[in-house]
Amino acid sequence: MKPIKLVENVYWVGAVDWSVRKFHGHTYTTARGTTYNAYLIVDDKVTLVDTVYGPFGNELVERISEIVSPEKIDYVIANHMETDHSGALPQIMKLCPKAKIYCTQKCKEGLYKNYYGNWDFQVVKTGDKLKLGKKTLTFIESPMLHWPDSMFSYLIEDALVLPNDAFGQHYASDKRFNDEVDVSEVMQEAVKYYANILWPFSSLVVKKIEEIQKLNIPIKIIAPSHGIIWRKDPTKIVNAYLSWAKNETKPKVVVVYETMWKSTEKMARKIVEGIVDSGVEVKLYDVNESDKTEVIGEMLDSKGYVIGSSTHDNSMLNNIAGFLEFFKGLKPKNRIGCVFGSCGWAGGAVREIEEIFKTAGIELVQTGLSVKYVPDENEIKKCYDFGKDFAEKVK
Ligand code: FEO
Repeated sequence: MKPIKLVENVYWVGAVDWSVRKFHGHTYTTARGTTYNAYLIVDDKVTLVDTVYGPFGNELVERISEIVSPEKIDYVIANHMETDHSGALPQIMKLCPKAKIYCTQKCKEGLYKNYYGNWDFQVVKTGDKLKLGKKTLTFIESPMLHWPDSMFSYLIEDALVLPNDAFGQHYASDKRFNDEVDVSEVMQEAVKYYANILWPFSSLVVKKIEEIQKLNIPIKIIAPSHGIIWRKDPTKIVNAYLSWAKNETKPKVVVVYETMWKSTEKMARKIVEGIVDSGVEVKLYDVNESDKTEVIGEMLDSKGYVIGSSTHDNSMLNNIAGFLEFFKGLKPKNRIGCVFGSCGWAGGAVREIEEIFKTAGIELVQTGLSVKYVPDENEIKKCYDFGKDFAEKVK
């Protein structure tokens, strides 16, 4: 694959990882693969913005070499130290050992602690400018979006934002721009990306976007470090981020459960029927059969969460516990919830999940529904009504 021109003298020189299916260890599933986007700016000073994951270093070098000899790189901009963007940095720095690396203080510390390279680090802060020749870069620190070291770079003359992970999606494609692909697919991945990676930092996302909006700078292209580049109507993804970050929701319910001998599953299906018959959108997931990354993605725009578990040793089952542990860390706001489950004798799961909801700030809007062993006809009817009542509350 050749380098791809974004604007005059700015090129995508990254790599497409078609086959990766697990990211961040095993915490994120990447059903559509991903890309590691790096960008080359050719001006009086040749500048590389970010690198790629280490195993793709040779591809990066080959793509750069199609345009200019990598030895000629003067500046490397490290917007973020995480390995998927810095893994090929040692390989690049071997080719251009005198290049200056521009990054935040935290990024400098992180890069050193990862690679122990004796490199010429230049620490930058928000508002600092770097003249490349005809073009000028300016930097905007973006701590905790999503690591303490993160920053955005902005190429002033081209109104090009290089925000690293922000606005990214795990989406491998032979195309590079949003006007060349099925945008609904890309948005599905952008939703999952936001929900699983940026949701906990939503208050910072709002602040950062508003800070940038106040600068009143033009934005023609947003080129993140993963997935598709937002060339057509880039404000659309910015507005989507604002909506997600403000925890705006729609009348939609996500039901997630874990079942031992199918009684909790029976309850779940009847609850869903009640929700459907109330005309509210709903998604149902058996936690053991579902992709957690996708479930969390569906929760992002949902007002209501219904969680169920059978009881085992007075506790919820293991896998729903693991799911809720992750979910709790996302710090969702302005959501309502309720809990259900079957037990043999003493119960415990419903109570335990309700405690997690309280810790997570989910408002419990109805008393948990607990059934002994297999729900009978009357209890099945209660499940249906439980769903209907909840649906009315999310409307
Ligand atoms: Fe935070 Fe794509 O790495």
